[in-house]
Formats: sequence, structure tokens, C-alpha cells
Amino acid sequence: MSSEKTLILVKPDGVRRSLVGEVISRIERKGYTVTSLRMLQADRALLERHYEEHKGKPFFEPLVEFMMSGPIVAMVAEGNRVIEGFRSLAGVTDPTVAAPGTIRGDLARDQGTKVVQNIVHGSDSPESAAREIEIFFGK
Ligand code: RTP
Ligand code: MG
Repeated sequence: MSSEKTLILVKPDGVRRSLVGEVISRIERKGYTVTSLRMLQADRALLERHYEEHKGKPFFEPLVEFMMSGPIVAMVAEGNRVIEGFRSLAGVTDPTVAAPGTIRGDLARDQGTKVVQNIVHGSDSPESAAREIEIFFGK
């Protein structure tokens, strides 16, 4: 059976609020398997690679600053259609309107910060997943 991998991050807001277990629990309860896990303090070089597609956008610098503001947890989750499945578990980018039942919809809201803080990141395509997994876990 074909399986798929995605890169998931618990962002600094999620770690600060002790939501790492909650996020992992939702991934596991959905039926996906966490196959790699690490906590790290991301530096600018790593984040500029990870958020390459957003370079030049107005929220890029606040996003990098936010992502350096504390430790993050990176993990690889596996399962059929996990990329799409985790994006669905996470909810839309803006936590104010993310559907209740999702990680962002249940656990985050607009805090009036320069960049939206929304607890998790999930890869958005197989190409992004492969690229991002290599950034955080190597080949
Ligand atoms: P992510 O990459 O973190 O999973 O989130 P996403 O796909 O839902 O959103 P994306 O468009 O990739 O943006 C990456 C992160 O940048 C921040 N952002 N702020 N207009 C804004 O203020 C804005 N747009 C994006 C969010 O933290 C978003 O998750
Ligand atoms: Mg994205």
C-alpha cells in the first residue's frame, strides 16, 4: 500500500502553551504514525530555507522572528494521504475562522501580533514535504 510522509511543526506558541502532547495526540488519534521527532531552537538560516516561498512577503520577517522566539518541535508523520489529512486536522491559516474541531480552530485565536500565531505547520504538497523533511531531518 502506498504511504506518504509530511513534516509537521509545533510552533513556539504551541510549545509555550504546552500543547505538544495535544497536537501529537490528535495526529495519533486520527490514525497517523509519528516516525521522527525532535525539539530544536530554529535559527534564521534554517527558517529562511523552510519559508523560502514566503521571502519578500510583508509577513516574512515577523514570521521568522516569531519562529525563532522559542523552541519548536519537528516531526514526520506517515500514512495514506497524511499531507491532506494533517492540513485538515490543522484547519485554515487564520485561527479566528478555523473550524471548531481543528487544532487551530479549537486552540488558537488572533492575539493582535504582527504575524498570525497558529500553533502548527504542515507541508502542503509531496514536493514541500520532501524538501522540508530534508531541512529538519536530513536525507
Ligand atoms: P503553515 O505553512 O505554517 O502550515 O501555514 P499555512 O500553509 O496555513 O500558511 P502559509 O500561507 O504557508 O503561511 C505560513 C505562515 O505564515 C504566517 N502568515 N501570516 N497574512 C498574514 O499575516 C500571514 N500569512 C501567513 C502564518 O503563521 C502561517 O501559518
Ligand atoms: Mg504553508
